[in-house]
Amino acid sequence: MNACIRAVVRGAIYHGAEVYGIRYGYNGMIKGDITPLSSYSVSNIIQKGGTILKSARSEEFKTKEGRKKAYNFLQEQGIEGLICIGGDGSFTGAKIFYEEYGVAIVGAPGTIDNDIYGTDFTIGFDTAVNTAIQAIDKIRDTADSHDRIFFIEVMGRDSGYIAIRSGICGGAELVLVPEAAITAEDVINTLKKSRDKSKTSSIVVVAEGDEIGGAIEVAAKTKEVLVDADIRVATLGHIQRGGAPTAKDRILASRMGLSAIEGLLNGRKNVMAGVMKDELVYTPFEHAITIKKTLSPDLLRMVKIFNY
Ligand code: F6P
Repeated sequence: MNACIRAVVRGAIYHGAEVYGIRYGYNGMIKGDITPLSSYSVSNIIQKGGTILKSARSEEFKTKEGRKKAYNFLQEQGIEGLICIGGDGSFTGAKIFYEEYGVAIVGAPGTIDNDIYGTDFTIGFDTAVNTAIQAIDKIRDTADSHDRIFFIEVMGRDSGYIAIRSGICGGAELVLVPEAAITAEDVINTLKKSRDKSKTSSIVVVAEGDEIGGAIEVAAKTKEVLVDADIRVATLGHIQRGGAPTAKDRILASRMGLSAIEGLLNGRKNVMAGVMKDELVYTPFEHAITIKKTLSPDLLRMVKIFNY
């Protein structure tokens, strides 16, 4: 997100616009928490995780009164347009705000979940996947040395993007994602089959939003049947949301940030900047939040084939 902020600020200044950073997202607009941003103020941040502007999930912005306060504040400050970096919640808020007050907003998709339509990848996703892969590689050493089955839970509230990619890269035997209906019985049968082939350890990657439940639930169900198996659970959690961004994320965030500010300055509104097939594109918020991005079926098929 910092690489995106930097691109927005430097792009705006290049085109002669004045830029302010709103701290804590929509809460900052309601409370009037803004700060002028110069080119220098975004130096030395491209390599940092998190966001220098801080972040918050705003309950108040979901109310009419909250949005009214935010609008009044923008008016007082003479702010003519907004760049909003976030996921579906942020864009839903942006769309409503635009519909109520006509404030020009362009979005840049920032979420590790990669579940936003209108861009092939979202800011933070590649870094999260790489972090998950490093963790899986390390856990694999214990799985292998101790002949254990590990259920590793990765983030993805409603989507299996991190799970499928980190699972493939980490050589997982099974990947459980909300987009594919694999039952606990399927999991147990696959692990039994592996044992029959004299496989001594296994890695199962579970997206936190999988319909069976998280890794703890899947592990418990497996243990009920494979009673003598040595099973462990590792939940990777928020390590996936931090750390220095990968090269791919820095480039993506920079491209999207510049595209968002240039779009805004050229009169675009109520859209999200994205990159599809390496092309810069703009997608209406309406589509970004309502169209479900599908998980490539060939990735799911690959896991099956490699573990046949
Ligand atoms: O939406 C992105 C995400 O990382 C989800 O994958 C995860 O469920 C959630 O955020 C965690 O949110 P919080 O940090 O508020 O617990």
